[in-house]
Amino acid sequence: MRIGILTGGGDCPGLNAVIRAVVVAGAVLHEDSAVGFLDGWKGAIERRAVDLDPERCRGILTRGGTILGSSRTNPFATGDGADRVLAAVDALGIDTLVAIGGDDTLGAAARLYQMGLPVVGVPKTIDNDLSGTEVTFGFDTAVQIATEAIDRLQTTAESHHRVMVCEVMGRNVGHIAVHAGMAGGAAEILIPEVPFSIDAVCDRLVHRHSGGRFFSTVVVAEGAHPRDDGPASGNGTSSSGTAVDQFGHARLGGIGSYLASEIERHTGFEARATVLGHIQRGGTPTAYDRVLATRFGAEALAAVHDGAFGTMVALNSGRIDRIPLSDATGTPKTVDLRLYREVAGPYLG
Ligand code: F6P
Repeated sequence: MRIGILTGGGDCPGLNAVIRAVVVAGAVLHEDSAVGFLDGWKGAIERRAVDLDPERCRGILTRGGTILGSSRTNPFATGDGADRVLAAVDALGIDTLVAIGGDDTLGAAARLYQMGLPVVGVPKTIDNDLSGTEVTFGFDTAVQIATEAIDRLQTTAESHHRVMVCEVMGRNVGHIAVHAGMAGGAAEILIPEVPFSIDAVCDRLVHRHSGGRFFSTVVVAEGAHPRDDGPASGNGTSSSGTAVDQFGHARLGGIGSYLASEIERHTGFEARATVLGHIQRGGTPTAYDRVLATRFGAEALAAVHDGAFGTMVALNSGRIDRIPLSDATGTPKTVDLRLYREVAGPYLG
């Protein structure tokens, strides 16, 4: 069998581990050959691809990023993009495609499947917002990095009696913020799912500091927004005001510095903002993500050989299974509000 592979959307630690699992196990177990489209759907549209074999995959397990490159190209955003993908798959003699991506990449895969593409999806995103799987690979690494950053911010916050605001990734959901905030003992965790009141945040910080603690860390997801009036950015507007990618997403950012200046203004406490940004996506995956990505890759290969097209591999109750691609895409998996309010909540403030 000749297997095509592509990685789309924002990159994510563990992508190379999936590629390696599919290519190496495919060659060893089934004498499969593999070809990788470059830069996600963009390479498939433009018919840019490279051959992949076990030798090419040597040493990539531990490497972040993706050896295939990635893009946020949407094959359905331009007139004949989808047809060109199907034509490229045909022209390169590809029997089946393994698409590794988040909601956007796999949403396109689901539509292409309806058009006849034999495709299997593998869920990735540091945001962990894909439905149908308990966790996506890349999330554990991002939480680890964010937690370490919060730990570091705590000690300098303590030295200077400051409020340190840490802005983490999370466009529509606050999984990274909740997990890293809990792990780092943050005073406040602000997420997109629950619009916050700046007055209430400041009141809680004043209360906390009047109780003898003279420093705080506030963790805010980039997509979080105040209940009433929005900040200059970080509320869904792009930094340029209008620009969006081919899937309609604006570039976020700015909520951290907005919060720091509001906190200073309302409380008089000195505050600073740190934006972790793409540091959360770069570098080597954690052991957990390497193992999960390898398990996903192995199951994707099995799905391909079972002819289980139109499915996505998923982690549920510790087991890897397959679900319809259409069940995984379209509606993001949001933070469990019981975890946020009842488990994380009592330790905040
Ligand atoms: O991949 C998801 C994500 O990391 C979001 O959390 C973030 O908003 C976005 O990607 C950033 O994308 P880009 O790399 O295009 O700036």
